[in-house]
Amino acid sequence: KKNISVAIDGPSAAGKSTIAKMVAKKENFIYIDTGAMYRCVAYYCLTQKIDLNDEKAVEQAIEHIQIRLTPDNKVYLNDEDVSNQIRQDQVSLGASCVSKYQAVRSFLVDEQRKMAKAGNVILDGRDIGTVVLPNANLKIYQIASVETRAKRRYLENLERGLDADLETIKKEIEERDYQDTHREISPLKKAEDAIELDTSSLTLEEVVEQVLTLIQKAK
Ligand code: C5P
Repeated sequence: KKNISVAIDGPSAAGKSTIAKMVAKKENFIYIDTGAMYRCVAYYCLTQKIDLNDEKAVEQAIEHIQIRLTPDNKVYLNDEDVSNQIRQDQVSLGASCVSKYQAVRSFLVDEQRKMAKAGNVILDGRDIGTVVLPNANLKIYQIASVETRAKRRYLENLERGLDADLETIKKEIEERDYQDTHREISPLKKAEDAIELDTSSLTLEEVVEQVLTLIQKAK
């Protein structure tokens, strides 16, 4: 039986990872959070006091970075569980900064392709349908209004016990949207064969239902 791969791309805080996790659980797919990997690179540099704007220094740092995603969705950086630390605002913006660099992207895209060979997989990110898995069986481009995304992230941060200020979060999301769509290498864009899903006025369950239906069709 052939392996199924599902790609979910879209702007920051559009609910991609929440949906991907729920779908993965229902379908027993492996979930690969590619954003967490860019976050690990940024987090490593921040803790090692490496200037994120220094492309060469970040490139060298990659050699010291090992990332592991576990089936229970924990993120390990060099054998340390950094699942919570990488969710800080500073790391989000840092990830968006280091994701501009070719060396970072090549390193992580390679890892992601290897991980995607493990079986039925669902990956979320910015370039899954366009670059990482151009032959994915199903491509979804998940969007939502900035207001919706900021509000969702605000509630999520409160729940995680992280700093939460709605205006700051909205600015951070807008800044990442701009950076991610305007970078030179693998900018965020909808793959030609991706199905656009606007989740602004949908519940989580409704989005999951739609994705599950699309997966059945793609099988
Ligand atoms: O998805 P998440 O918000 O965790 O991603 C953090 C940052 O990593 C994004 O803003 C983006 O700059 C970068 N990223 C990327 N390509 C991916 C996943 C994330 O460039 N496939």
